[in-house]
Amino acid sequence: MANYEVHEYDVLVVGAGGAGLRAAIEASSMGVTVGLVCKSLLGKAHTVMAEGGVAAALANVDEQDGWETHFCDTMNGGKMMNNWRMAQLHAQEAPDRVRELERWGAVFDRTKDGKILQRAFGGHKWKRLCHVGDRTGLEMIRTLQDRGVHQGITVYMECAITRLLKDGNKVSGAFGYFREDGRYVLFKAKAIVLATGGVGKSFPVTSNSWEYTGDGHALAYDAGAQLIDMEFVQFHPTGMVWPPGVRGILVTEGVRGEGGILRNSKGERFMFKYLPEATRNDYAETEEEAKIWVDAAIRGEKTQARRPPELSTRDNVARSIYLEVKAGRGSPHGGVFLDISYQDPDRVKKKLPSMYHQFKELADVDITQQPMEVGPTMHYIMGGVRVDADTAESQVPGLFAAGEVSGGMHGGNRLGGNSLSDLIVFGRRAGAGAAEYAKKHTAAPSIVDDQIKAAIDEMEAPFNRKDGKNPYELQRKMHEIMSTYVGIFREENDLKKGISLLEALKEEIKQVSISGTKTYNPGWHMCRDLRNMIICSEAIARSALSRTESRGAHSRLDYTETDPEQQKSNTAIFQDGDSMKLEKTPTPVMPEELKKLFVKKEPANA
Ligand code: FUM
Repeated sequence: MANYEVHEYDVLVVGAGGAGLRAAIEASSMGVTVGLVCKSLLGKAHTVMAEGGVAAALANVDEQDGWETHFCDTMNGGKMMNNWRMAQLHAQEAPDRVRELERWGAVFDRTKDGKILQRAFGGHKWKRLCHVGDRTGLEMIRTLQDRGVHQGITVYMECAITRLLKDGNKVSGAFGYFREDGRYVLFKAKAIVLATGGVGKSFPVTSNSWEYTGDGHALAYDAGAQLIDMEFVQFHPTGMVWPPGVRGILVTEGVRGEGGILRNSKGERFMFKYLPEATRNDYAETEEEAKIWVDAAIRGEKTQARRPPELSTRDNVARSIYLEVKAGRGSPHGGVFLDISYQDPDRVKKKLPSMYHQFKELADVDITQQPMEVGPTMHYIMGGVRVDADTAESQVPGLFAAGEVSGGMHGGNRLGGNSLSDLIVFGRRAGAGAAEYAKKHTAAPSIVDDQIKAAIDEMEAPFNRKDGKNPYELQRKMHEIMSTYVGIFREENDLKKGISLLEALKEEIKQVSISGTKTYNPGWHMCRDLRNMIICSEAIARSALSRTESRGAHSRLDYTETDPEQQKSNTAIFQDGDSMKLEKTPTPVMPEELKKLFVKKEPANA
């Protein structure tokens, strides 16, 4: 058997974005030993791609705001598929978590009277997004990283976990390898927190970078946890579309929050015609009314005017752009135009500095003078590991999950800015849950040699196979299947075809081979990543086929209506022997006192 190094911790956190860092900080502050593993370098995480802000009802700009409204907006945005308890905890605790970040050194933009400044975002009734220009995620990571490093947490960088190890039904460790030189590593741990982010690399156009191959989803699935609501995949409406090398890179919703206007090739402000009936009254009816809202926001004044239509929820804006392009009213490179050049250039540069540089450097476009070309990009998955709302523990004892890898919080569609608040609220809860668990389970974790041998054999196999399949070619095939059959709009025949192609691809992935050594060998890494991606892709496609309605980010051409009956079940995916099984499980029922919030204060428009 190949050599491997061994480390032991009470709590191992896998993933060092916002959720992982926050979990590690919490667990370590509770006096347990903590190891933190990241696939990339510390500080490089998809968290930085949530640029426009962190949602928290501080009521600094719109004093009417409160946790109840944030809760209702989140549930309405998620089309009532959210785990109500997660949405409640999130709305209640986000303000404290943001203030805590500020105490730890995050430098937020300020109101004139020195409070944390908040901006508008899609689906949020009030200005709620606390921000640092358009670099909010980056500032959060910087702050959490400083805090974690000073707390003495040991970090293992460029390390990918390939298997969770179990002692009976509970987790006892994780096996992995260092990407730079291929050396193997065993982490013994009493509790493990998964905070690995999303699955974007299953799709060809995504805002996610190379790390996001659904590792945590697949690790949890392999370990016996359930993945819920995987059909709900968020296409952010505005990614770059040109030049080809940057297609998919995020253009923050902050552009629209600051007054950015979407137009088609005919110059029409098309979002007016796509507002869903249930929310139409919340949005301006004319360009003049939208302008009154933007002008007041720029001056920092209150207005009775309603929000611009570009601030509809992401699922709706992404679908609208897709339909405009499909109808032949797209921009030259297959997107639409997003324009903020009508505003004072100095304001644009101050509010959106990263966007200014991103377009100038990558596309040679000056956004203070010209519109941007943008189109939908796969950004986020709402589905993920089923967890207990309060402790973030999965159904596998000792295994916890927080952030994008967990499911339930965002239901059928996530509101922008709610991921950053999710990370800090549930990162903290997962860290606390894991630390409590480790304190209760004092016995040293026991590891079975057979499990280590199987994990090593699996990693060695691509080198031992001769003339097998090329991993990059298989990823290309996966991209084609997912974009053709499991994209923004879905229908039964496409999904069935997609599933049968994914099943065939799964067999090809078992035949993947690679040459060379283990040092800096990205092809070898791809062999492992493919296995995770195919699990997630299949889970998405099967879940999408099972939901015979349109709801949130899940749009069926053959079932265009929302079916109230289907709000009553989550879609649960789990492993049964060698096959993937799906069942419908009851959605947690919201208590009466929370239901009343919708009647009294906010319309329930699911
Ligand atoms: O558009 C954005 O800045 C992204 C925010 C988010 O995904 O929450």
